[in-house]
Amino acid sequence: MLRTLLSALTLSLCTTLPAGAPAVDTEGHAWWQHAVFYEIYPRSFQDSTGNGVGDLNGITARLDYLRGLGVDALWLTPCFPSPQVDFGYDVSDYWDIDPLFGTLQDFDRLVAEGRERGLKVILDLVLNHTSDQHPWFKESRSSRTSPRRDWYVWRDGKGPGAPPCNWESLFGGPAWTLDPATGQYYYHYFYRQQPDLNWRNPAVKDEMLDVTRWWYRRGVAGFRLDAVDTVFEDPGLADNPVLPGRNEYGDPNMKNLHNYKLEEEHGLLKDLRRVADETGAVLIGETYTESTPELKAYYGNGRDELQMPTGHMLAMAQTLSAADFRQRIDATLATGFWPVWVLGNHDLARTATRFGDGRHDDAIAKVLAALLLTLPGTPILYYGEELGMVNNDPVRLEDVRDPLARQGWPRAKRRDGARTPMQWDGTAGAGFTKGKPWLPIPPSAATRNVAAESGEPGSVLNFHRQVLALRRGDPALREGDYRPLNPADPNVLSCLRTYRNEAVLVTLNLSPEQRSLSFDLKALGWDPTRAVRLATSGAALPEAGLPLELGPYGVAMVSVPRLR
Ligand code: GLC
Repeated sequence: MLRTLLSALTLSLCTTLPAGAPAVDTEGHAWWQHAVFYEIYPRSFQDSTGNGVGDLNGITARLDYLRGLGVDALWLTPCFPSPQVDFGYDVSDYWDIDPLFGTLQDFDRLVAEGRERGLKVILDLVLNHTSDQHPWFKESRSSRTSPRRDWYVWRDGKGPGAPPCNWESLFGGPAWTLDPATGQYYYHYFYRQQPDLNWRNPAVKDEMLDVTRWWYRRGVAGFRLDAVDTVFEDPGLADNPVLPGRNEYGDPNMKNLHNYKLEEEHGLLKDLRRVADETGAVLIGETYTESTPELKAYYGNGRDELQMPTGHMLAMAQTLSAADFRQRIDATLATGFWPVWVLGNHDLARTATRFGDGRHDDAIAKVLAALLLTLPGTPILYYGEELGMVNNDPVRLEDVRDPLARQGWPRAKRRDGARTPMQWDGTAGAGFTKGKPWLPIPPSAATRNVAAESGEPGSVLNFHRQVLALRRGDPALREGDYRPLNPADPNVLSCLRTYRNEAVLVTLNLSPEQRSLSFDLKALGWDPTRAVRLATSGAALPEAGLPLELGPYGVAMVSVPRLR
């Protein structure tokens, strides 16, 4: 507490406290509703020291690139001190920056330089667990009577060698580890080096709320809340139902009924939101779901829980199917709240790898960009997706860095492949490092990089820049109403985004064949004879704008005025 007060005092002397109530525009929208978010995996964005690992000064050095790309807010995956067992998702101090990534002063400079360029910084808050090297856990495990004992979930086993219940770790094996020193088991939803905090202890909540306040004062514009669905578990430790079959770690399949998505998490989200509202900060939730009611619940009443729950409905798509995407979009929109769109992140295979067909990879990367950036709501773009970067999966066990992959090898290649260094240029270190990169750079980086793509007018990167600039300048795309067209078309997704006297027609061919499209826009009150091309990829537009000819995975975005 003393630490909080001292820091607050120091900070209030050197930074301006953000104003109280969140600012909204004339449409009633807050800043994050107009923003495009960009996820940075700090280890892999830009190394400024030559040790092969990215850092904060590296990110600061690339802010002009990000501004030029056209994004507004940067979500940094955890850069707090950490033993790096789960690459930062095992935090050992919530009040500092890991020396691997820099210092608090480097962080302040990143925030300040970002602010000068209109770029906000979002941090990643790991609430469910800490590192087993966190002083809280060390104290907690030191004795059964430690004042911090109850900060974590400790229980007696059911008998010799038998854990307290059958819960399994998401990362393989039992979710309980016996600590011989005190003869009790501690609970961990993830690795055993990531013991779960006990969120039923009010002291834990108070401390974490203070953590958020402290970073808000430091200029952080919000948090991405890691794994919020796992923070509470049934205190009665009822066994989870076992399902047929085994998972990729060889453990029995299980329904996580008693340790996942418990109702109590909504109380915590409300507390976090109350504090966030003090500075107009945004809360993004890591909230995987394919169910509309479940997604809707994360918004609370629309003002008291998460502003941006990431249902990941799009991210969980496995095939480029117009029908499947349409269903995922509809399921997201059906909450009635502000939608959030994600296609890729640091836990999923890159979209170019998931959806590429080896023949139309650039066109597919562009159609996905157009999808992500033209849906109504706030998109989150994963670094490198703007280049069409592909997964670079390890082929030998000795090259694996993600402990998850080691555990499931060779069945699960897991997450390294999607976390490789940002490809800035065609040099050996891809412009990312002068040293040996912590993960290998794929041969495709020779041509798929910022320098090369900047010079090609039709590149995936320039298409992203073009669509992001359109979105920034055009209220129809940014905040216009959304009207899906041709709802039964098995190949092409089309919609109108409308704002006052303008409609933007967006058509996305999700098939490898040429498609010809026409719409009766007049019947909807829009004048196709005065249509103006905004952006196309693999599409031909006649003088009068319609019908459109879309090539394989082609995109056309056309502005249409109201009928006079
Ligand atoms: C989230 C993160 C993931 C991490 C896990 C445990 O799912 O996105 O990378 O391993 O939480 O913190």
